[in-house]
Formats: sequence, C-alpha cells, structure tokens
Amino acid sequence: MYAFDVQEKAVESTQKRLEEADVLSRATLFCLGHEHMAEKVTEPVAAAVFNLGWLPGGDHSVTTRWETTKKAVESALSLLKPLGVLVICAYPGHAEGDRERSALIGFLSALPPQRFNVLHQKFLNAGPGAPECFVVQKQRIAG
Ligand SMILES: C[S@@+](CC[C@H](N)C(=O)[O-])C[C@H]1O[C@@H](n2cnc3c(N)ncnc32)[C@H](O)[C@@H]1O
Repeated sequence: MYAFDVQEKAVESTQKRLEEADVLSRATLFCLGHEHMAEKVTEPVAAAVFNLGWLPGGDHSVTTRWETTKKAVESALSLLKPLGVLVICAYPGHAEGDRERSALIGFLSALPPQRFNVLHQKFLNAGPGAPECFVVQKQRIAG
C-alpha cells in the first residue's frame, strides 16, 4: 500500500492508524503530492483510493486541486491491474471542491467504455454540497 498527502499531520495520523491495525509494514507513506504517484509507484495496483478536499480540522487552503488531481487520476488509471478499481470521494461543498468535481465528471465521462466502467454515486436527499463518490473499474482486456 502506498499513500500520499502533502501535510505531515495527515501522514502521521495515517501512520498511527496503520500501526494500530498492525499493517504498517505493508505500507509506504509519502509526504508528497499525489501528482508524483507515477514516479514512486512502479508496480500495478489492484485498487486506488482518493479522498479529495482538505484535512478536517486543518488549513482549508491546503486542498486538492483539479490540475494536480487530474495527473494523479491518470497515473492511477494507468497503474490499475485489469479489473482493478479506483474510488474517488469528492467534496463539492466548497469552491475548489466544486470545480474539482465538475472537471472530474467531464474527465471520467470521456473515458472509453471499452476500457473502463465508470459509476457516479451521490446522496439524493442531502443538498448540492454533499460528498460524491466515483468508482472506476478497468476492463479485463484493458492495456
Ligand atoms: C479529506 S482530506 C484526506 C486526509 C487523508 N489523506 C485521508 O484520506 O484520511 C484531503 C487531503 O488532501 C491533501 N492534499 C492536498 N493536496 C494534495 C496533493 N496534491 N496530493 C496529495 N494530497 C493532497 C490535504 O493535505 C488533505 O489532508
């Protein structure tokens, strides 16, 4: 398992939780932007998970942005094994998150269906700012 976050505080809390679950030895944590994923992860992965936005209780100006998220999502799609799954949680309840969500919808909608299945899940009764989830599965024959 590889994990990326630009804030030391987030990396430390991830490390603590992995330690508590006794699985830290299986993890490599980077205090680095996810846009650098392709430089650090060189083996195919069965799953990739993005929890976008800002750190709860942290500095709201340190948030994921579409320009770098796009590069990271492209890397993740490329690293996925056939039938591997990518899950993205987006937070449109703030301006940057809304911009990121809209761009994500455009990007994922344009993925070729011969290579990827794309699912968009959202709460129908929680208002426009509620978190939304995207699930992408790479097809078996995808290269
Ligand atoms: C909703 S929080 C998720 C925190 C933690 N990574 C988790 O999954 O529980 C969003 C995180 O994205 C991080 N972030 C912002 N820009 C980033 C980037 N370019 N690459 C990786 N993480 C980034 C923030 O520091 C913040 O901790």
